[in-house]
Amino acid sequence: MRDWIWEYEGYDPAQERLRESLCTLGNGYFATRGAAPECTADDVHYPGTYAAGCYNRLTSQVGGRRVENEDMVNLPNWLPLRFRAASGDWLSPDTGKVLDHRLSLDLREGTLERIVRYEDTTGRCFAVRQLRLLHMGDPHLALLRTELTPQGWSGEVEVESGLDGTVTNSGVERYRALTSRHLTHVHTGTSAHGTVWLRCRTRTSDIRVGLAARTTVDAPAEAGSVKENGRIARAFRIAVTDGRTVTVDKTIALHTSRDPAISDPLYAAVDRVRRAPDVDALLASHRTAWQQLWRNADADVPGTAGEVLRLHLFHVLQTLSPHTAELDVGVPARGLHGEAYRGHVFWDELFVLPFLNLHFPEVSRALLTYRHRRLERACFTAADAGHRGAMYPWQSGSDGREETQWLHLNPRSGRWLPDHTRLQHHVGSAVAYNVWRYCEATGDMEFLHTKGAEMMIQIARFWADAAAYDETLGRYRIRGVVGPDEYHEAYPGAAGPGLNDNAYTNVTAAWVLARALDVARTLPVTRHRDLFERIGLDRAELDAWEDVSRKLYVPFHAGVISQFAGYGDLAELDWEAYRRRYGDIRRLDRILEAEDDSVNHYQASKQADVLMLGYLFPPTELKALFERLGHDLDDETWRRTVDHYMARTSHGSTLSSLVHGWVLARARRARAWAFVQEALAGDIADLQNGTTGEGIHLGAMAGTLDLVQRGLTGLEARDGKLCFDPVPLPELSEYGFSIRYRGHWGVRLHLQQGRLHITVPDSDEPPITVAVAGGRTVSVAPGESCALTLPG
Ligand code: BGC
Repeated sequence: MRDWIWEYEGYDPAQERLRESLCTLGNGYFATRGAAPECTADDVHYPGTYAAGCYNRLTSQVGGRRVENEDMVNLPNWLPLRFRAASGDWLSPDTGKVLDHRLSLDLREGTLERIVRYEDTTGRCFAVRQLRLLHMGDPHLALLRTELTPQGWSGEVEVESGLDGTVTNSGVERYRALTSRHLTHVHTGTSAHGTVWLRCRTRTSDIRVGLAARTTVDAPAEAGSVKENGRIARAFRIAVTDGRTVTVDKTIALHTSRDPAISDPLYAAVDRVRRAPDVDALLASHRTAWQQLWRNADADVPGTAGEVLRLHLFHVLQTLSPHTAELDVGVPARGLHGEAYRGHVFWDELFVLPFLNLHFPEVSRALLTYRHRRLERACFTAADAGHRGAMYPWQSGSDGREETQWLHLNPRSGRWLPDHTRLQHHVGSAVAYNVWRYCEATGDMEFLHTKGAEMMIQIARFWADAAAYDETLGRYRIRGVVGPDEYHEAYPGAAGPGLNDNAYTNVTAAWVLARALDVARTLPVTRHRDLFERIGLDRAELDAWEDVSRKLYVPFHAGVISQFAGYGDLAELDWEAYRRRYGDIRRLDRILEAEDDSVNHYQASKQADVLMLGYLFPPTELKALFERLGHDLDDETWRRTVDHYMARTSHGSTLSSLVHGWVLARARRARAWAFVQEALAGDIADLQNGTTGEGIHLGAMAGTLDLVQRGLTGLEARDGKLCFDPVPLPELSEYGFSIRYRGHWGVRLHLQQGRLHITVPDSDEPPITVAVAGGRTVSVAPGESCALTLPG
């Protein structure tokens, strides 16, 4: 990284997948991996293009079973652009001799530059510079500029610039046994001004896709088109002179039938590409759009950490941009950067929305609205399982039904195994938590009293119904679940899956019930009556919620919170022996299964589970929550709990180091920085062994940004105030960022040497009340700045 440029020098096939993921360009509407335009999908290259929310369902035969999976569809490839000296071989990094190769991702401008020098088999050299963008202002447009310079020869160059509809979803090796052809009815053609087009549709979801490409050359050229099954290209023969650069500009437009205000996607794409301005104008408007994004979200963090954070922010904004506010989409766990987890939406929004709330609240609102549109489905799912209220799916896609795969492959043992992670019903609490935090941060009471209230109440209703009273314990129990640590999914030797009394599930359920009661109490009278009538809610049900919210069972053992009932009885793993034997033991589940053992037998977690509570709730709120449940969670118990799980977690998810870094920083513990560093390195160093090549880890990326924004500052939007409770992290001692808070755009915050500086931009909005824990409360009016000394 230098300044705003993220760079890869040299061509390394083994690194290509990772680089393609990290050099993905996107604009919230669609994204394209940073693959070489002259390459097609193979074991090295994977040129994927994905439109947010574009899914398709197929059935496959695996492990002797018919299974159905819904995938985010790899759309026709718009990148193809190949070249050769006349009668030579088409050049690619795998066929030609690569003399130089550099990929530079310009974060400020949102462009990817590629510099290559090739020599073909007859010794003719080409210098190639390519620049590409996915337009941040007009999200349907993308551009690929190619500059070709013959070095040491003159003659003729052939160039083909096309669209390829023969693609499949084959970016993840583990899924290769599954059906992968999602596109059908691929038709291609040409239209005026040398435009080529391609249309197709997805096989079962019947989403129609239209793509048009216009390619121009700035030198005299013979032009035609080549068409073969599912592909079309504009072909040029260009006379070239040694040392003279020829520029080939390819502008493309993409539409799908999910877009509003179009007649049909093909017409829309052809029309848009025809009207697209020239490259300079496109570049200029794209830069302006990015400048505006950076103004709204950039953080000023010195050093390497700051550079990585900027890369993370770049990818978060490319997945969830202001354009997302217009779409019906959720938070895809792996961005729009690859096919891992099939583009599904998990609980990861828990790590993303709190960050977005303070920069792009309308995007948060849209993402919550995605959940609201699927509330009815979540109620059907609960009803089908014999429950009331809303049971959100662990993995969500198009319509909100449960998309978790039934079987998953352990690549280590080669066995297809049942996947029980769908029992992670805690995802519903994440939805409710995000509703509440969004409304706190933005003051959007209209949302809280309408869609927000409906979701919170139905989720609370589900928890109250799922909880069964146990006379012996005098407590409510939630049985048969899986917690955030998805390694444990059954008791040793049990006939069926599921665990009882997962502490994280129960404590967050108690929180949801308590907040839903708050919402029910504070709804405006008319709204209260309408909603209660409509969903048949009454006083007696609220009384029951009150009872459950105070009596959910939280198991303890050996002076620490138990991850679930019986966790303390599980065997201890010889961690050192496993580390010695395997080195990397993050995927301990796969290692043990391949040894015909099971992680279910051990006190060994994939990721933060109990400790998630310290991530979600500031200490006072967590204490109060435990008090409501009849427990005194003193500092010593929490410290012991943190130590216990820290020693028994393999960090098999990138979310784990983030949460540990956050929790340890808040507790002012020495190892915090090591975890923060790991969270920062997660994708750039591909710490989860090859997973980044299948898509970035969006939750961890956004989480690291939020770690500075809320984790270190202790920032909370509470009771109409901006509250701060900063903790020191010596390695990150000075930082600044801007937030959008209620009507104030661009409130500037800077922390340095024990002082917090706040600048509120000029406006007609009321002053902001700022409270520092254990310190002063002040009011800062628009146009004013203030510096507060932080206690301690
Ligand atoms: C983690 C989950 C996460 C999912 C998608 C899994 O590896 O265990 O917590 O939701 O990845 O990011």
